[in-house]
Amino acid sequence: MKLRTTWEGGCSLIDEIVKQFPLLQMQQDGKRLVYLDSGATTQRPQAVLDAVQHFYEHDNANPHRGVYQVAERATAAYEDSRTEVAAFLNAQKKEEIIFTRNATEALNLIAYSWGLHNLKAGDKVAVSILEHHSNLIPWQQVCRVTGAELVIFYTNPDGTFSDEEIEKKITKGVKLVAFTHVSNVLGLVSPVEKIAARAHAVGAVCVLDCAQSAPHIKLDVTKLGVDFLAFSGHKLYSPLGIGVLWGRKELLEEMPPFLTGGDMIESVREQNATWAPLPQKFEAGTQNAGGAVGLAAAIRWINSVGFETIARRERDVYNYAWEKLSKLPHLTLYGTPEGEHAGAIAFNVDEAHPHDVASILDADAVCVRAGHHCAQPLLHHMGLTACCRASFAVYNTREDVDALTESLLKVRKWLGYGA
Ligand SMILES: Cc1ncc(COP(=O)(O)O)c(C=O)c1O
Repeated sequence: MKLRTTWEGGCSLIDEIVKQFPLLQMQQDGKRLVYLDSGATTQRPQAVLDAVQHFYEHDNANPHRGVYQVAERATAAYEDSRTEVAAFLNAQKKEEIIFTRNATEALNLIAYSWGLHNLKAGDKVAVSILEHHSNLIPWQQVCRVTGAELVIFYTNPDGTFSDEEIEKKITKGVKLVAFTHVSNVLGLVSPVEKIAARAHAVGAVCVLDCAQSAPHIKLDVTKLGVDFLAFSGHKLYSPLGIGVLWGRKELLEEMPPFLTGGDMIESVREQNATWAPLPQKFEAGTQNAGGAVGLAAAIRWINSVGFETIARRERDVYNYAWEKLSKLPHLTLYGTPEGEHAGAIAFNVDEAHPHDVASILDADAVCVRAGHHCAQPLLHHMGLTACCRASFAVYNTREDVDALTESLLKVRKWLGYGA
């Protein structure tokens, strides 16, 4: 069954990709489902669903605990997944990979474990205005407790960073710089190497939130120049409930545990305990081995498609979407089509609440996100309270963009504006 029209040049790879996602074969009220909310969570390919099912059917036990064969297989599956994540990030040391529930937990781990123990009154933490609440509120909280000052570095009105702002805000006294690789609202790619270089020049530790970049951009920790990075598996074609923190070994080794309990100890007595080496020190309690196996399967699936193909497809859909949407009447697009982009376009329809827009699109089986996108300070900075966001993954097509634009043309009519 052919599910999508071919791309320019007659390439049919996209048909093969889309076929691998069971949920994308669904119809909603007799209409083809058009999933444009991959920034919130991606769909999962069959290969990932099969790997998770295989784990639970054949290898399921509590990793790192039992000595019987099934438990050994569970441990091996979990630890092999760590090895695959390390290779995915080009991390030289496997123990630098800490499994978490999601990017949020990974960022909180850094804030509470590194931040609480390294920051004091008089220090500064710098974060960008683009941040998702997950890379802002942990720093607000840690600054509140330690007395450090939270400094925000702003973007230009189009969402890009100026060198002047980076130099003005990331100055001596800043001990940590945390920023997003890709804005979850505007889809713009941040100048990582520039910001990381500035952070290190003033002696700060640098944290990169890769929640929105990991599915689109090849991450290489030997080149990014940051000290920690975090991402969520569920935005990377993997199961919910598995995420990753990567950190430089020398920093992770100095940090105290974030959560304490089973499996993260070396030895426990009635009144005290000592910690297991990395990565167990940061993995308290029973871990999501099935999720880790699914994440490793997703990485293998991504590698089989290749980041070059992913980037080429997504760039084509993004450019096509920007061109088509920018021609629609009564529609405002945010950000800029210039520069590097990954995965998202934010917009509003004149005189229509974004939630109304998303509900009207849903009647055409077009799924977009509406709201503040967990980035309220950014929306406030943009003079907005809410907007819509169409976000893309490798399975999206120009046909999906056509469905979005046709449906958007109906919005104002539905709301009684006539056009
Ligand atoms: C840029 C960014 N950072 C962090 C997060 C938090 O991800 P999670 O909810 O999976 O922890 C998100 C989620 O949308 C995000 O877009």
